[in-house]
Amino acid sequence: MKAIRINEFGGPEVMKIEEVERPVPKPDEILVKMYASGVNPADYVVRQGGNEILKPFLKLPLDLGIDGAGEVEETGSEVTGFKKGDRVYGIPNFLQGTYAEFIAAKASQFAAMPKNLTFNEAGAIPSCALMAWDGIELGKVSAGQRVLINGAAGGIGSLALQFAKAMGAYVIATASPHNFDFLKELGADETVDYKDTNFEGLVNGIDVAFDASPEFNEASRISMAKALKDGGSFVSVQLPYPFSAAVLGILAGKHGEAKMIRRERDAARSLADVAKLIEEGKVKVVISKVYPLEEAAAAHTAVETKHVRGKIVLEIRKEH
Ligand SMILES: NC(=O)c1ccc[n+]([C@@H]2O[C@H](COP(=O)([O-])OP(=O)(O)OC[C@H]3O[C@@H](n4cnc5c(N)ncnc54)[C@H](OP(=O)(O)O)[C@@H]3O)[C@@H](O)[C@H]2O)c1
Repeated sequence: MKAIRINEFGGPEVMKIEEVERPVPKPDEILVKMYASGVNPADYVVRQGGNEILKPFLKLPLDLGIDGAGEVEETGSEVTGFKKGDRVYGIPNFLQGTYAEFIAAKASQFAAMPKNLTFNEAGAIPSCALMAWDGIELGKVSAGQRVLINGAAGGIGSLALQFAKAMGAYVIATASPHNFDFLKELGADETVDYKDTNFEGLVNGIDVAFDASPEFNEASRISMAKALKDGGSFVSVQLPYPFSAAVLGILAGKHGEAKMIRRERDAARSLADVAKLIEEGKVKVVISKVYPLEEAAAAHTAVETKHVRGKIVLEIRKEH
């Protein structure tokens, strides 16, 4: 089968389509015939050689891709919830790539994909949806709360915004001004340019601040912490963690909490919750562009701009 593999770290050009062995599922795994994979910042971070957390785990050669959608081809002997032909979306085992014609992965990391989505749409979002959903749960977002989403036009942000609206929150969303209308279409109640002196003074009385930006910026973290009301929560997808003494000091003064979002929690349950919201029409998937597998380098170049609206997808097979 074909998969995108790297034999050296570097720029988008190090990705090559190679003929590799089709995996065999272990007892607790499913073999998924992949139709689409999302393209996520982690993919270019791994391709470049990793960050402080990933580096020790990266041994070449490596297959890229951290999420996707496809059809169950085979089930391991212990798997009960899936059968051949089920349309699923989810995440692979750690560092086993999804830019591949087949993947074998733990069944507990997959769920039935939303019935009203194409493979490209469902494959675009599992990792971002898990991060966004985890952030909403960690922040305990509820109806009537004021929620600030920083980086709301991106993969995680565009879902976090819609999840918060689905919970009944009042959402203040940051992006570059050309994305303000887009954020309003997704349901944002207010829009703010994150470059406006880091929105200090523009946003106040926030119950939950959700940092979904792909750029670490200490000044904007400080602004977000200052915008929280007493007892507010700050959740982040962004390293470094723990936060700086300055941010923690502001939070302590407000009896607030800081939490790092992780996608490893009960993935199947979260993906099923997300699928329900999508099927109810409360959340939509935004795709900027679909690239064929052969154009993975161009897809990476697009995501590395850090200004994609919604998601970029790699189409592995055409859906008929
Ligand atoms: N994707 C995942 O599954 C995943 C998993 C774990 C961790 N993470 C981390 O989470 C972060 C976000 O991931 P993502 O997939 O959502 O990224 P993404 O889709 O590439 O984010 C793009 C968005 O970020 C916004 N943005 C760019 N610079 C910004 C800034 N300085 N302040 C605020 N917003 C800014 C852009 O808005 P404008 O174009 O409007 O300027 C754009 O809409 C990344 O650091 C990633 O490493 C992601």
